[in-house]
Amino acid sequence: VNKVFFDVGLSLDGFLAGPNGGPRNPLGDGGLALHEWLFATATFREQHGEPGGEPVADDGVVRATFARTGAYVMGRRMFDEGEVVWPEDAPFRAPVFVLTRRARAPWPRKGGTTFHFVTTGIHDALARAREAAGGKDVRVAGGADTICQFLAAGLIDDFTLHTAPVLLGAGVRLFDDMVGHRLAVEQTATSPGALAAHAHYRVVRAS
Ligand SMILES: NC(=O)c1ccc[n+]([C@@H]2O[C@H](COP(=O)([O-])OP(=O)(O)OC[C@H]3O[C@@H](n4cnc5c(N)ncnc54)[C@H](OP(=O)(O)O)[C@@H]3O)[C@@H](O)[C@H]2O)c1
Repeated sequence: VNKVFFDVGLSLDGFLAGPNGGPRNPLGDGGLALHEWLFATATFREQHGEPGGEPVADDGVVRATFARTGAYVMGRRMFDEGEVVWPEDAPFRAPVFVLTRRARAPWPRKGGTTFHFVTTGIHDALARAREAAGGKDVRVAGGADTICQFLAAGLIDDFTLHTAPVLLGAGVRLFDDMVGHRLAVEQTATSPGALAAHAHYRVVRAS
């Protein structure tokens, strides 16, 4: 059975992105600082066609997440930002199901990534992602709107938060849409990290 999970970077003050995000300002004002730890890892650099990368402890958590993932679900706003910055050989190497109200033909990229646009909601997107993932897990890539819909529907099994040592002050908060929902989680593990704190959680109950 595939697990459904998310794995995101957060600021110390709980933001997933800074304000004014968009295709010309990925992750919003100041938001790229959230991923400094990720950009330094050898796994990330390799997936983006860049040489080098430091043998930092954080690399293990990136490798493990990539290895467990067989398909992705993503919100249209995250896709819009990535569309202009991801290399032609996009870093997912698996099918990506983009939630949107605007239909669009599938967009295949080099290296195994194909973006499929789903206009029929989260349950449909998840069913297609599960099937495409084979025996692997489905990663709900983001952003906050998308993740909270999956959480509120009780569809997330576990998640990882990478807390970066930065304060953004404003932007897109991860859990704002969970107000009014009951979510109980337990911390299952932490992974070694040099540049961010990596904590793993299991969802005990969501409603
Ligand atoms: N820090 C991290 O690790 C991380 C990870 C992921 C994303 N992010 C950031 O998060 C920000 C985006 O997050 P967000 O919460 O603003 O938006 P989002 O979840 O990326 O996208 C929301 C959009 O997805 C579409 N959508 C969502 N649910 C749908 C449904 N059930 N049916 C049809 N369409 C649906 C809608 O697009 P339409 O308007 O086309 O209908 C909606 O406007 C970006 O700045 C991104 O960089 C950060």
